[in-house]
Amino acid sequence: MKITSDHFGVTSSGEEVQLFCLTNNQGMEVRITNYGGIITAINVPDRDGNLGDVVLGHETLEGYLNRSRYFGALIGRYANRIAHGRFCLNGITYSLAKNNGENHLHGGFKGFDKVVWSVREIPAADTACLQLTYLSKDGEEGYPGNLETIVTYLLTNGNELRIDYQATTDRDTIVNLTNHSYFNLAGSGTVLDHQVTINAETYTPVDKGLIPTGEIRSVRDTPLDFTSPTAIGARIRDYYEQLRLACGYDHNFVLRTGTQAFRNAATVYEPTTGRVLEVSTTQPGMQFYSGNFLDGSIVGKGDRVYVKHSGCCFETQHFPDSPNHPNFPSTVVKPNQEYRHTTSFKFSVA
Ligand code: BGC
Repeated sequence: MKITSDHFGVTSSGEEVQLFCLTNNQGMEVRITNYGGIITAINVPDRDGNLGDVVLGHETLEGYLNRSRYFGALIGRYANRIAHGRFCLNGITYSLAKNNGENHLHGGFKGFDKVVWSVREIPAADTACLQLTYLSKDGEEGYPGNLETIVTYLLTNGNELRIDYQATTDRDTIVNLTNHSYFNLAGSGTVLDHQVTINAETYTPVDKGLIPTGEIRSVRDTPLDFTSPTAIGARIRDYYEQLRLACGYDHNFVLRTGTQAFRNAATVYEPTTGRVLEVSTTQPGMQFYSGNFLDGSIVGKGDRVYVKHSGCCFETQHFPDSPNHPNFPSTVVKPNQEYRHTTSFKFSVA
């Protein structure tokens, strides 16, 4: 187990940014920068033991500053969309930044993905552990309350990357944190042949602005049924309204059991390399996004052109636009409470 660090660059406002490399005893490597808490690389073995990078991103800080689609980033204060950038809490209407048409997306114009986090290594016996903290001031991007956020990345010798999220506030507010890594277990090409299983019987259908309608709909007999392993590309071009609205998969799946128990949310298998990714979480939902809005305009690591479906995201989260849907699990956090969630990405081969 070891952690090394290097200078990664300087932001436009002159803040120093570092790049950390966490390595476990199996040789698995995770690179994380304190700019946006971004995971820039995950190197894991394939079935022949060859290490390969399984996430999209950039080699340089400049790439993340200028050409990113939230690659690998921490997302806050609110992951996913809030309709019209508006919500009501304790009788007060709050207006958030509208950075996605008329809606609010991923925390606004300068979300947690674009701030420099304080960072420290936490000594631990069998894990490489990095802790990032950020104080989001009252009113930032329109949100109430000073929000103190701590995100801990832990790499184990079992090839598991665990992410612990904690947040506390001094005023009632809303919180929904996630990580926006785009995975491609083959390390090249598209993810259409990746076989995905999602532990969800229902999902939250959306309107044309990708805002949930409020309905909780069964996945049965639809292209959103991933209750048994299915290639992402098998039905992605089916004539189905929800796929057309999102140009592919871009939906919040309601994970089985409404409790906060830590459990499996999804399993992904890539047939050519044998790589397997298991996603587990305490969160009630997961946005499965098949990289529909990648359009070849971004060139990433190794000069790879990121075309449509070059990567896919498993964003464990509370449901999009929850503050405007009383039937969704609440995202309200109060001063006497602590927001706490855990998600893990575990890699193996089959
Ligand atoms: C959303 C997509 C959005 C993407 C931006 C995903 O979390 O679900 O709709 O385009 O983030 O990269």
